[in-house]
Amino acid sequence: MKKVIVFWSILFVNLEVSICLRVVGISVPPLKQRGESVTFTCDYDLEGGKLYSVKWYRDNEEFYRYMPRLRPPQHAHKLDGVRVDLEKSSARRVHLRELTLKSRGSYRCEVSEEAPSFHSAQAEMFMEVYYFPRESPRIVGHERSYELEEPLDINCTSAKAFPAPDLQWLINEEKVIEKSWLVTYDTIPASQGLLMSTLGLRAPARRHMKIRCIASIGTHRRERSVIIETSSANWRRAPNINIIMLIGCINKILQIMM
Ligand SMILES: *[C@@H]1O[C@H](CO)[C@@H](O)[C@H](O)[C@H]1NC(C)=O
Repeated sequence: MKKVIVFWSILFVNLEVSICLRVVGISVPPLKQRGESVTFTCDYDLEGGKLYSVKWYRDNEEFYRYMPRLRPPQHAHKLDGVRVDLEKSSARRVHLRELTLKSRGSYRCEVSEEAPSFHSAQAEMFMEVYYFPRESPRIVGHERSYELEEPLDINCTSAKAFPAPDLQWLINEEKVIEKSWLVTYDTIPASQGLLMSTLGLRAPARRHMKIRCIASIGTHRRERSVIIETSSANWRRAPNINIIMLIGCINKILQIMM
């Protein structure tokens, strides 16, 4: 019980002492998709002072300010990737429309009090903007027929995205972890700051081979599957299997005859 009382009195003292303006909380989502809109909020406690201005910055460049003394109190500056919707913005929030990849950055709100104190406080958070494509990754090199054990010469390339998607290969639903079968390539820059990833597969060809390539960004996934054909010439070069099958057949025939 005593501890509780001590705790509350400390808290009370703290509240009494902090007469300064402070930013209580800023909310900037860490991850948004290109084309979406977003609302940032900046919660502050004036502690009895009068609000002079609230300013918003992306990477230290101002794009929005709210000054209650001015008519109108709101003003937006143009920045690449920052389109402020003034109607949905206020002294405690700012609304951005149609995010682009250029919208990514550190967002900071800065709150200032009127004279005489001119206290100011600020808070900052980073927002990443991603773009995930609708299209599946492309697989090339599977069209031809492979001989058994011949190393595949196949690539999987993601659609344009940001950031570069992670790629992985599955053979008959099993993830390929054998390093010597995987060939990594540099990401390929595309239009509008988007990127494409490519991953090669050099696994030895097997019979009944279904391969799947999965492109992912976070929890988003796109995939494509293809079947690898092994050439019929291999039947002749793999006598063991033929003989076993032949024996199997003879057994069947004998069983039927008996
Ligand atoms: C796989 O991609 C690499 C890099 O782009 C390229 O050099 C190679 O020719 C490609 N292979 C196939 C089978 O397309």
